Amino acid sequence: MISRIKGTQDFLDLSFYNFIIDQAKDHFGAYHFDEISTPILEPVELFQRSLGEHTDVITKEMFIIQEHAERSEAICLRPEATASTMRAFVENGVQVTPWKVFSHGSMFRYERPQKGRYREFHQINIEIIGAQSVSHDVHLITMLERFFAEKLHLDTFALAINYLGCANDRPAYREKLYAFLTSKKAEGICENCQVRREKNIMRVFDCKNPKCQEIYLKAPKIIEHMCQTCNQEWQSLQDQLQLLSVSFVVRTNLVRGLDYYNKTVFEFVSNDLGAQNAFCGGGRYDSLAKEIGAKQDCPSIGAAIGIERLMLLLENKKAQLSIAQPKALHVVMPMGAAQHTLALMIADTLLAAGLCTDVLLEQDSVKSMMRQANRMGAAYTLVIGDSEQQEKTVTIKNMITGTQETIKQIELVNYLKR
Ligand code: HAM
Repeated sequence: MISRIKGTQDFLDLSFYNFIIDQAKDHFGAYHFDEISTPILEPVELFQRSLGEHTDVITKEMFIIQEHAERSEAICLRPEATASTMRAFVENGVQVTPWKVFSHGSMFRYERPQKGRYREFHQINIEIIGAQSVSHDVHLITMLERFFAEKLHLDTFALAINYLGCANDRPAYREKLYAFLTSKKAEGICENCQVRREKNIMRVFDCKNPKCQEIYLKAPKIIEHMCQTCNQEWQSLQDQLQLLSVSFVVRTNLVRGLDYYNKTVFEFVSNDLGAQNAFCGGGRYDSLAKEIGAKQDCPSIGAAIGIERLMLLLENKKAQLSIAQPKALHVVMPMGAAQHTLALMIADTLLAAGLCTDVLLEQDSVKSMMRQANRMGAAYTLVIGDSEQQEKTVTIKNMITGTQETIKQIELVNYLKR
């Protein structure tokens, strides 16, 4: 048997997945976000330039498609959608900003699969491109909080926020952090952190090692080393969230895994998820446009929701959500090949009237067809044998009550719609 690729999933029932997507379309649509779609295949260079060459995604997790002999560019399966959305904005010369868009689909990262972590996973990605004011950050975060709390009735989550300062704040802060990490106070940090200290210093805060985390409690914090504008914006972000009744905790070690972030970063987390506790993450990326080749900077903010993790969180709450029930199913049963055409014509009439209909064409006994219809969850079965064919009737059975009657074919739609 050929099995599916490790870290991928088969979805045999999409009703829950589609429910989440429909709710997202409804909610983000109400906030005036338009749905877009970008390719799953992108040039590797797009992510190398934007996510940062020392990030885990770029160094370890990219699915790179072998170069085609005739092509010079390296292609990959997209690991995330923000760089693609920005590319689409720049490449298509979108003129109206803020450009408020969302998209959803598969992302690919070669990570070690575990609960809530896949190699092909699904995100809803939301971006506001061309969004200078910090109030955009507040608006986006509030929209997400309302989505989880009000639309999906989630109550076991927290919002963690942090501020990473601007490009001008970073060099001086990096120096201070480097001095701390090479001082006696930071003796004993793990090997991984020693590498990060040299290559991608802010990421040391992401270390899962408890000893490192204890050491970093005493490390200089970026929010204590920011310019006046950043300080004001950081304060304004917190004040506005409070006024809008969005609860949050400040987590000064929240740095996120991708290099394009500056200023606001945030994650929605839940203890119910285990180790992979973030089900939505995002932040501001003011320099990404230029990094991928635009002439001008375009301050922006966005987030992505991990659909699998959201589904895990909602698993026990499904009953409270108004997930659409499948329509009542009508199963047409021709007793022999001689009734197949009539069965298809009757099914066609029912379908044209908007009734969900299936036809059994395997020529089994009535008993086994009834059993099959039961397994299919049929509401009604419509038996057509020789006599029904001759008399232009069908024998119809209500599969819930078990009652059975014979009615004229011409009256079927009215009968079933009653
Ligand atoms: P990210 O934090 O890498 O951010 O991913 C966002 C969310 O996707 C995570 O919080 C998690 O729920 C889900 N996720 C990530 N990796 C996996 C995986 N291997 N398996 C299952 N779920 C996963 C981004 O992707 C940014 N592009 C978000 C963003 C948009 N920032 C600005 N705009």
